[in-house]
Amino acid sequence: FLPPSSGSAGGGVTAKDELGNDVTASSYLDTHGAGDRSLVQGLKGDPTYLVVTDDGTLDSYAVNAVCTHLGCVVPWNAGANKFMCPCHGSQYDSTGKVVRGPAPLSLALAKTDVAEDDKVILSAWTETDFRTGDSPWWA
Ligand code: FES
Repeated sequence: FLPPSSGSAGGGVTAKDELGNDVTASSYLDTHGAGDRSLVQGLKGDPTYLVVTDDGTLDSYAVNAVCTHLGCVVPWNAGANKFMCPCHGSQYDSTGKVVRGPAPLSLALAKTDVAEDDKVILSAWTETDFRTGDSPWWA
């Protein structure tokens, strides 16, 4: 597990499941195995993928599912190990980095933390985009 959120980041929201309930890390990880990418409701209500690492823990980043082309929600294709947009064919790798256009940019990131009460907290990713080495375009 990640260390509990210090609360210093501010502006975080509790991830919500499809029924609008708070997502707790332990129950989420009971039903989502290594490598899983599944949608929760994240910052600004955006559909956001939580990422389960190969070790079966929550990764420190989450992937905003809104395509950077024209805003379709991009499904995860586990077989292809990619996010593949059904609207105009853009593709993103398993971290959300764009690998095929017309999407101009990689999917936005959010930061994932687990609070002391086990709730999954999503907050703004303001540091360097680890996939490109650039400043985040969404911040
Ligand atoms: Fe995703 Fe156009 S909206 S490729």
